[in-house]
Amino acid sequence: MNDVSIERAGDAQMPEILPLLAPLAGTQIVAFVARDGNGAMLGAGGIGWQSWGDPPGFPAWIHVMPDHRRAGVGRALARALIERTQGEAPALWAIRPLVEGEPAPAFAKAMGMEPRYRQLRFRGDAQRLYAHLVSILDRLRRHDRIPDGATCVRLDGNNAAAVAALVRREVRGASPAIGGWIAQALKDPTRRSAIDLDRSRVLEINGVVAGAVLTRRLADGDNSEIICTVVSPEVRGGWANVLVLTETTRTGAESTCDWYLFDCAHDNRDTLGLARRTGAEHLSTEENYYYAIAGRGAA
Ligand SMILES: CC(C)(COP(=O)(O)OP(=O)(O)OC[C@H]1O[C@@H](n2cnc3c(N)ncnc32)[C@H](O)[C@@H]1OP(=O)(O)O)[C@@H](O)C(=O)NCCC(=O)NCCS
Repeated sequence: MNDVSIERAGDAQMPEILPLLAPLAGTQIVAFVARDGNGAMLGAGGIGWQSWGDPPGFPAWIHVMPDHRRAGVGRALARALIERTQGEAPALWAIRPLVEGEPAPAFAKAMGMEPRYRQLRFRGDAQRLYAHLVSILDRLRRHDRIPDGATCVRLDGNNAAAVAALVRREVRGASPAIGGWIAQALKDPTRRSAIDLDRSRVLEINGVVAGAVLTRRLADGDNSEIICTVVSPEVRGGWANVLVLTETTRTGAESTCDWYLFDCAHDNRDTLGLARRTGAEHLSTEENYYYAIAGRGAA
């Protein structure tokens, strides 16, 4: 690694660095920048200064410019992040799951990180998903499994705070910016944002928020990604999940959505079964990487 310096980024440098650290948006970022001898930026690394994940740690991200990879820049940035975190938090998490087979997991392992959670990413046909969910829901209704007070509604100003709190509490790896995304979508529903109000649904039981499926519209404008499915612990493992997913996929199937992207924990048998029965295509496998700081030196 020739002539590379790593320095703490000040406020004035943040506009240049933030695009590289987009996954950390919505957190208070402590950033480091790597430059060559002429001051050109080679990459950046950042820590979101807040507890996150399970077990808790600070979320982090590193991005090295493509022309400068495999020259030790990422390693130098990782060392700076670890040193800064020492004594402040017990661990670092890569804030995004890393896709198997890409350079990032090889890098993370070389830095001493370990994979903790594994998700499978699927692309599922909107009509088939909806039809399959409707058939399960009909069966549950016939067996009187859906309580009278259960209803699915749009995300709005009345339920937004409770939905954000539920997601933050129950969804492992939820973006720390989730509350901000919801607020932004409600403030300006016409703007394409991280949450699609038209295709997201909230489960309420007697007016109390008990679940949600949040989606975002993909860049093609027609298809959607399910970014989070959550139901509160009291109603887990049964009808609640099916109801809110059915009502959400109804919005897509009855509009222009041909397919959904969705993730599923490797051991979530219900969602894996849904993916298999509806012929969803397995696109990739991703893992969340964790680095325990306590008692460890820098990589
Ligand atoms: C992942 C990333 C940050 C690595 O940065 P980098 O500067 O190329 O990494 P380094 O040169 O310091 O590599 C350190 C070690 O990681 C491993 N590594 C890095 N890239 C690798 C690759 N493409 N394939 C296999 N191993 C790799 C190697 O063991 C390497 O040591 P070596 O070169 O002596 O063999 C860079 O590829 C990147 O910015 N990717 C896009 C953003 C991203 O995915 N970030 C994930 C952050 S956790």
